[in-house]
Parts: sequence; structure tokens; C-alpha cells
Amino acid sequence: MAANRLVQLQQALDQRATQHLLRTPVTLQRYCGRLLVVAGQSFLNFSGNDYLGLATAPEVLQAVAEGAHQFGAGSTGSPLVTGQHQVHQTLCDTLCDWLGFEQVMLFSSGFAANQTMLQTLAQKGDTLLLDKLSHASLIDGALHSKAGFKRFAHNNIPALQALLSQTEQALVVTEGVFSMDGDSPDLGEMLRQCQQHQAALLLDDAHGLGVLGPEGKGTAAKQGIEPADIFCSMANFGKALGVGGAFIGGSKTVIEYLTQFGRHYIYSTALSPALCAGVIKSIALCRRQSWRRDKLHSNIALFRRLAADLPLLNSESAIQGLVLGSSERALAVSQQLKQDGIWLSAIRPPTVPQGSARLRITLSAQHSAEDIHQLVQQLRQLV
Ligand SMILES: Cc1ncc(COP(=O)(O)O)c(C=O)c1O
Repeated sequence: MAANRLVQLQQALDQRATQHLLRTPVTLQRYCGRLLVVAGQSFLNFSGNDYLGLATAPEVLQAVAEGAHQFGAGSTGSPLVTGQHQVHQTLCDTLCDWLGFEQVMLFSSGFAANQTMLQTLAQKGDTLLLDKLSHASLIDGALHSKAGFKRFAHNNIPALQALLSQTEQALVVTEGVFSMDGDSPDLGEMLRQCQQHQAALLLDDAHGLGVLGPEGKGTAAKQGIEPADIFCSMANFGKALGVGGAFIGGSKTVIEYLTQFGRHYIYSTALSPALCAGVIKSIALCRRQSWRRDKLHSNIALFRRLAADLPLLNSESAIQGLVLGSSERALAVSQQLKQDGIWLSAIRPPTVPQGSARLRITLSAQHSAEDIHQLVQQLRQLV
């Protein structure tokens, strides 16, 4: 029985390999933002999510070390037992002050936060309406909930409207900046549709937080939407803030409900207090040092200007997709770029739809103009 199971597993692995879909973790020997070292070779990095360069900011590193000394490396328990330290409360207060939520709660990852948000808030008799390009953590959260689940065409308001008019008790789920395409929905219009149909809007702003809006408050702030208009929002600390962990924010009632009924929150060890201290410092830098956002946005503009003749997806964000079609082609171009000293991972199905394997180029405040010129020159030769 177990032997048969092993054979099945191996067959699935072999199938992935023949489809050019096998993935392997890459061990970084060194990480310094725009550069990384793998197997003794240095590469220009265009694949990370450290959009503001905060993962290596000396003030953040020091805050993590001091946080560990003061509160311990690990939280030692669920937040509802012994895992909630003073530094967790300070981080919650900092987030409310920055983003204007009534209340927030913390998680060890964005994946866990999304699972909690969808699985707990959507109930029997509800229908979750998700954008077609939703992140895997949102899809899994929807599948684990007791609600029904439908998808609407990507960022397509008429498609959403059509579903809303057939659905009672809907919760609409979208992302501030889509993780693989880098584009954003019209949140104001979505909100109007939700209000018309008495649906709740849930927002994942993993790639908008820190990058968009005044003080990096995110996609909703950039589009002039008040935090109270969105039923529930989440974002993580492992992208622009450069640390790790996540939060859910909303009204007191929503957060209190998730605290009582959110299984990932109740039955999981709380976020490390050392990381909380790092996130607090990272938020302070993100708010104060607007030069990081200015530099990122000027790098994005430079890239789009230089690469205007390449088949880029339509995105104004730090995520720039260059669709190549087959997984084989995306892998070959990625491999060639590595030989030329550029680290740019190929993104393949099932992360992106069949036939849309791509290079997901991510820009950072740490890139120089020369880095971007070099990237575009290589891309032009290969694509
Ligand atoms: C849109 C989106 N949501 C959620 C997550 C999950 O966040 P985390 O990496 O903190 O688990 C990611 C990260 O890959 C993401 O891109």
C-alpha cells in the first residue's frame, strides 16, 4: 500500500519534470538587496519582493536584534495563551495609527492571514466571489470555507456585476496589486458594486502596502478609499517592509470575531517578537523615508520607458510581467539571463494560467539606472 503510494508520488514528480514545471528551492549564500550570491556567483537580483530595500536596512536589523534581547526570539505560544508580548501590542497600535483601522490582529504569514479571513468570515449560505487571478492563499481559504465559491474575469467590473446580481450574501475578494501581473482593480467602482448589492469587500494588499499611496499606506489609500469602507483588509510584512508576518485590519467587531473564531490565529504560535520589533522599525522608515518610494517609482518609470518595445503586461507597479508563453521558453530565457549575471526566475503554471509562463521582473529602490539598462539590454537580445 505504502509502496504504491510512493510510486504514485514519483509519477507525479516525473510528470512535472517532463512538463518543465519542477521547482527547486534556491539557497542564497548572500543577500544584499540588488545583488545575491548563489553557488559562489554574484547576480543582479530582479526577482525579490524587497521593493524598498528595507530587508537589509541597518536600523531594521538592529531592531530585530534588540527585540530578541528584550522579548525573546520566539513568542512561545498562541496570542491567546502566552504568545502576545508588549511588542505585539505596540505593532498593532502602530498599524492602526498608520493605516487608520479600528483594530488589527497579527499572523506569522500572509498565507495564514488569508486562510483566516476567508475561511472564518464566509459562512454557509454565503458566496465568495474571487478574481480569476487570486493568490493561492485566497483560493485555498475559499475552498476551506463553508461558503460557495465563484470566480470573475480579472479586474472585470461588468463580470463582477453580473455575478453579484445573481448572488445573495456575497463577499467579494480582490488584491490591491496582483502578485503576478502587477496591475490593480478599480476599488472605488468595486466598492460601489458591493454597496449596491450589500456585499462585503475583502482586500489583500500584500504588494501595495509600503509601495503605494501617501506614506506607503497602500492601494486603497492611493485610490482615495477610507479604511472603514472595506469590510476586511490584510497585508503582509515580508514584501515591501522586508521582514515577515502579516496582519488583518478592520472594524472592532470583525477583528474580535476573527479572534474568537479564526482557527489559524487561535491554534498557532504567535509571530516572533523579534520580528515584530523589526516590523515596527521598518514601518517607521517606510513612512518617513519617502525617497525609497520615489526611487522605486522612478526605477519603474525608467524600466517601462526603456522596455517599451517588449511585450510587457500593463502595470505601473514594481511587478512587471513579460509573458513568454510556454514554460520551456520561460525557463530557457531565465537560464540564459543567469549566465549573463541576472537573476530572474521563470514563473510557470499553476502559479500563472496555462500558456502564460513569464518572467516576473520586480524592481526595487535599490536598483541603479545602470542595473535597469543592463537588464533591458539583455532582455531585448533574448526575447
Ligand atoms: C497576494 C499575496 N497574498 C498573500 C501572500 C502570502 O503572504 P506570505 O508570503 O506572507 O505568506 C502572498 C505571497 O506570496 C501574495 O503575493
